[in-house]
Amino acid sequence: MARTPSSPLGSSTPAPSEITPETVFQDRRHFLSMTGALAIDSALPLDALAQDSAASLRALPGKVSPLSTDEKKTPWEDAIRINNFYEFGTYKSDPARNAHTLRTAPWQVVVEGEIHKPKTFDIDELLKLAPLEERVYRMRCVECWSMVLPWVGYSLSELLRRVEPTGNAKYVEFTTLADPQQMPELKNKILDWPYVEALRLDEAQHPLTLLCFGLYGKTLLPQSGAPVRIVVPWKYGFKSGKSIVKIRLTETMPTTSWTRANPREYGFYGNVNPQVSHPRWSQATEQRLGKGERLDTLLFNGYADQVASLYAGMDLKKFF
Ligand code: MTE
Repeated sequence: MARTPSSPLGSSTPAPSEITPETVFQDRRHFLSMTGALAIDSALPLDALAQDSAASLRALPGKVSPLSTDEKKTPWEDAIRINNFYEFGTYKSDPARNAHTLRTAPWQVVVEGEIHKPKTFDIDELLKLAPLEERVYRMRCVECWSMVLPWVGYSLSELLRRVEPTGNAKYVEFTTLADPQQMPELKNKILDWPYVEALRLDEAQHPLTLLCFGLYGKTLLPQSGAPVRIVVPWKYGFKSGKSIVKIRLTETMPTTSWTRANPREYGFYGNVNPQVSHPRWSQATEQRLGKGERLDTLLFNGYADQVASLYAGMDLKKFF
């Protein structure tokens, strides 16, 4: 894959086209537009469609968690119009424009695999399983932009505990809905749908790993992964699967969508690490959306105190 012109975010930032798989990259129309996408998006007012869908959201308050950062939050408008959700298009502005076709109710989540108590949850039941908390997390995308967002949900461990993992369970796999009628971009084989992500069981059980239903005190908008998504703040954003319909505990390491698409560039772990460059760009710095300056990227996205012990003795260059 050839190098592309530098992105508007700065010379050390990959052009957004660079993260995309070959099929997308080869689409010249897409490439030309993507190179300016972030700069243009953050300058635009919310369009009428986004305002309409925002008006339909329900309040979803949560008690502020001590796991929250007190850094300045990214404006809600940026969080809901600059998204990656390839099922609705590969431009950063596509999900905000297109994801209104997602039907978020009724919604069920199947929990299965290496557990003693497999169960299919209606979304309302899942929502009430544990007290909701507001978790203000730093989020770092592999494309070198970052946000600080107040998510609403509870630790995924609350759910995992209730379904009782068997002694064989070592990984947790998350599968996104894949319905071509609701997700028009599935016809473009950008990834091997459905979108699948996974964590090691101890990562999934870590208190920071959030089963997330809301953002900024309201239910999630479709572009943010409504009605339920995962949020793993010490990993690059691609590890946080959206609009989840299945959670499966497994004995063997699942093959995730990005690793399948490009194993050299996207490892299973996806931990934020400024010392391990992506093969085609540095991960040393990031552009905080809504803030002018570039920031140094921190190991494990600044959550090293809480999560570094999960990787004790591991070569993080090899297990990237
Ligand atoms: N989940 C699904 N189903 N499809 C996607 O394309 N993109 C991932 C992740 N989860 C993605 C997904 C990537 S690359 C990122 S950076 C985050 O979602 C973006 O989340 P945000 O739009 O809430 O910032």
